[in-house]
Amino acid sequence: MSKILIVEDEIIIRTALRKLLIRNKYDVVETGSVAEATKQKIDTFDLIVSDLRLPGAPGTDLIKLAGDVPVLIMTSYASLRSAVDSMRMGAVDYIAKPFDHDEMIAAVKRALGKAAKPASAAAIKKKGEEKDTPIEGMIGSSAIMREVYGKIHKVAPTSATVLVLGETGTGKELVANAIHTESPRKDKPIISVNCAAIPETLIEAELFGHEKGAFTGAASNREGLVAAADGGTLFLDEIGELPLEAQARLLRVLQEGEVRPIGSTESRKVDVRLVAATHRDLGKLAREGRFREDLYFRINVVQLRLPPLRERGKDILLLAETFIKRFCTEMMRPALSLTPEAIQAITTYPWPGNIRELENAMQRSVILCDNDTEIDHTHLAIDHELVRVDETPDTPSKSSRPTQDSSGDDANEDLSLEDYFQRFVLEHQDHMSETELAKKLGVSRKCLWERRQRLGIPRRKPTQGKKTSA
Ligand SMILES: Nc1ncnc2c1ncn2[C@@H]1O[C@H](COP(=O)(O)OP(=O)(O)OP(=O)(O)O)[C@@H](O)[C@H]1O
Ligand SMILES: [Mg+2]
Repeated sequence: MSKILIVEDEIIIRTALRKLLIRNKYDVVETGSVAEATKQKIDTFDLIVSDLRLPGAPGTDLIKLAGDVPVLIMTSYASLRSAVDSMRMGAVDYIAKPFDHDEMIAAVKRALGKAAKPASAAAIKKKGEEKDTPIEGMIGSSAIMREVYGKIHKVAPTSATVLVLGETGTGKELVANAIHTESPRKDKPIISVNCAAIPETLIEAELFGHEKGAFTGAASNREGLVAAADGGTLFLDEIGELPLEAQARLLRVLQEGEVRPIGSTESRKVDVRLVAATHRDLGKLAREGRFREDLYFRINVVQLRLPPLRERGKDILLLAETFIKRFCTEMMRPALSLTPEAIQAITTYPWPGNIRELENAMQRSVILCDNDTEIDHTHLAIDHELVRVDETPDTPSKSSRPTQDSSGDDANEDLSLEDYFQRFVLEHQDHMSETELAKKLGVSRKCLWERRQRLGIPRRKPTQGKKTSA
């Protein structure tokens, strides 16, 4: 028999809840505040059902104190936002007051079911310490990306719904897959659906299935994609495009753990973890009545925001070089490097199509490059109008023009270029003269000398006669 601790200060609700749970064969202990609850041996309970607003400390304080024991938060309907906050803090679920009996029992059963898996709130805390090790298949070690990795590791093992936000080509699908593979659901399927790609009239049937004869053309019963994802993960890309009727059915899946095919009177139990992605502002759509607010709250439990490529500093060059290496291997070409001009173009171009655009541009340049050593900026099929050109003493204002919004990122972008400069000099100074180095780097000798001073890599005294050829 599962043992449940009730924490609720309103006597009427507390008594009703106790009776309900006892009737459903649960063992119950009731308390009226967090302080009272902590006098109990908390780890002997299987579940805590707590009001959010209590005299003294709020119910969410129990989440930390409860360790492995899941906490189900009750809250008045008006404070849906705080309910979502409590989920972020690790509550297993929330239920709005007033609730009907069936709803409460369903929520309790779900919460107890979830607790059996390593997907409890405790798992979030434990995994959280794993920090920011890279995600398989994702390149990048900038601080902003390490933060993203940390969040993925933290949220993946839980069953929390995740909303992945980011511009096109920033890796949203990659992240959804990583969340699945790092979760206890990894041996079950991940089903990915692009809501924008399926016609509005078909999407409900695709997702939720249909009965034979439910509509013209429904020749037989058909299982939907939600049911196919049972036990696994459902990735809904471009969720902002989901029609309102389909949103209502999806809400039911999330809230009740049930799917009802079109034309059917019966529901089937499903256990899916939802990862959703969008490049739209769902909050705004919800305010405009174009997205269900209750669904928005359910989805917006954990947000993962992928930064655009132009904000990833050094990662841009790292990604570019990795892609070049990969395409050279694929095309069985000798390894190609980038000329300084190409590097400057790559690190200052704003990459509106993000990593996908960079990947394609590198592939094209490996194909187009007609020599066996270097990719030049002319090989890059990008809009050079958007590239920022550095003014070195040698290249007096070559149609220099700043990118539209490069101001905030200049530091990062310069850093990439300087890193490259430094690396190049350190690697080659032993076997190249200053003139050769400067030529390779595409700068004047004066500029090379200045940069050496600035970067703290002063020129070494030549030791051999031949190195003084400059
Ligand atoms: N950090 C990364 N490291 C390596 N490759 C990446 C990274 N991020 C994205 N990619 C690659 O870039 C391409 C686009 O990624 P993905 O499809 O996940 O983006 P998306 O955000 O879902 O794009 P869209 O909004 O257009 O659907 C893929 O080929 C993916 O493998
Ligand atoms: Mg995508």
